[in-house]
Amino acid sequence: MSRTLIAYTSNAGSTEGIARTIKEGLLTPNSTVDILQFKDATSLEAYDAVIVGAPMILGWHADALKFLKKHQTALAVKKVAFFAAAISLTYEDPIQFAPLKLFFDPNLAKKPAKALPSGLREKYTAVSNYLNPMLKAAPDVKPVSVAFFGGKLDMFRLKWWQAIFVMLVVQAKPGEFRNWDYIRSWGSALQDLLK
Ligand SMILES: Cc1cc2nc3c(=O)[nH]c(=O)nc-3n(C[C@H](O)[C@H](O)[C@H](O)COP(=O)(O)O)c2cc1C
Repeated sequence: MSRTLIAYTSNAGSTEGIARTIKEGLLTPNSTVDILQFKDATSLEAYDAVIVGAPMILGWHADALKFLKKHQTALAVKKVAFFAAAISLTYEDPIQFAPLKLFFDPNLAKKPAKALPSGLREKYTAVSNYLNPMLKAAPDVKPVSVAFFGGKLDMFRLKWWQAIFVMLVVQAKPGEFRNWDYIRSWGSALQDLLK
């Protein structure tokens, strides 16, 4: 019986649904999958694998980076995967990140206008710009896979400065972009990747 933890945080609540849907794809009769917020995931000892997830909020949520640093010794010897919820992602060829298995929701990733990301929005939302700080936070922690999923954005829940950042830099549209089938399929792919 293998035990997996999905540890996550959220700014406005929508990442919890992503965690639950990953569990639907991942769960088998021979496994258990727990879902805990970072603040409640105090010990990782009981788990064979840990999935760490958070939304992009001015980069991957600061609590995710803190969680990786705090638990880096434990996570360095476990199977680990990361996911992020986002509203805007500029495509870069996943081959350049091999052997890391990158997944991004095809509805989320938009090709840059030129060969490489250019301009503030494309550079800020480029896969590599999101990914590098996620990988550098705890360099001994080597995820087998990182996934970027469409999230959910409700402008009415944001503070004024958050709304300005999201509109001007990320140029995000408000709405529901969680692609449940794609999220579930990553959960299923993790059945093998986390073995
Ligand atoms: C202040 C703020 C900054 C954000 N920054 C980004 C960003 O850099 N890139 C992006 O794709 N989405 C960004 N988003 C959108 C969120 O990642 C998205 O809405 C996510 O689904 C929120 O998840 P949650 O409901 O669990 O907090 C931002 C949202 C807020 C409020």
